[in-house]
Amino acid sequence: MGRVEGKVAIVSGAGTGIGRAAATRLAEEGALVTIAEFDAEAGQAVADALGGDAVFMQHDVRDEASWQSLMDGVAKRHGRPDILINNAGILATENNQHLAVTDLEQWRAVQTVNVEGVFLGCKYGVAAMTADGGRAKGGDGGGAIVNMSSIAGLVATSHLVAYGASKGAVRQLTKSVAIDCARKGLGIRCNSVHPGVIVTNMGNQVMGMGNGDVEANWKARLDLVPMGEPGQAVDVANCILFLASDEARHVTGAELVVDGGMTAV
Ligand SMILES: NC(=O)c1ccc[n+]([C@@H]2O[C@H](COP(=O)([O-])OP(=O)(O)OC[C@H]3O[C@@H](n4cnc5c(N)ncnc54)[C@H](O)[C@@H]3O)[C@@H](O)[C@H]2O)c1
Repeated sequence: MGRVEGKVAIVSGAGTGIGRAAATRLAEEGALVTIAEFDAEAGQAVADALGGDAVFMQHDVRDEASWQSLMDGVAKRHGRPDILINNAGILATENNQHLAVTDLEQWRAVQTVNVEGVFLGCKYGVAAMTADGGRAKGGDGGGAIVNMSSIAGLVATSHLVAYGASKGAVRQLTKSVAIDCARKGLGIRCNSVHPGVIVTNMGNQVMGMGNGDVEANWKARLDLVPMGEPGQAVDVANCILFLASDEARHVTGAELVVDGGMTAV
């Protein structure tokens, strides 16, 4: 019996990196996983690799109509969703995100994916999880939402002003959704995850920002990680799995930091 056996799960941005690792761990532990991804080739490849009940649906977290069709598609195939991982995010649209050089276009592009995408996910996710009226009305609805923030949402990021602000918003939104659902007796938990330095495409993109010296920047950044090594996507995925599972049944509105001790210093 898997840790999320038979649960219906959706993971946004699951075509690569942390999202792919989360989709994989959820599927390994028995969930029926929908890979909701913008990049069709990458999303289909993950669904093919997972096999079994895993399916790919093309999805853009910025687009409200896309959320409606995703939830309709999942309901038709599997029924009410139990787990939603709002993982999709972008770092930047330009190579520099210091205050003076960040234009409104870049600021808005980052907020649109990272904040509006998570807001729409929570809104449509809660609606789909309570489609039977929810526990408050005698239904068996309920569920778990995990929102992807970052340590950039906890501490200053003067080199990434738009990204840090977006992840701070995700942290705060998570708590509001958690309390709203709890007070209404919906049985839906909502928590945020805060990775530090993780080896993914985005991890490399972070290290390439500014001077472009990826190798030197990785070394400098790892000097700031007390555990001395970067996190892997599966390290974050295992935390997501815990929060999504019934093992975390009394955990809501919480922040789970996965950073090798970086922010504890
Ligand atoms: N890698 C890190 O060091 C790190 C650290 C902290 C937080 N995070 C957060 O973790 C999440 C995943 O990061 P990652 O490193 O795996 O990133 P990644 O860039 O490797 O993967 C992101 C995925 O999201 C998808 N995506 C982007 N825009 C989308 C949209 N509009 N709709 C649907 N899908 C979209 C991409 O196609 C890609 O598959 C992000 O929210 C990121 O901000 C990453």
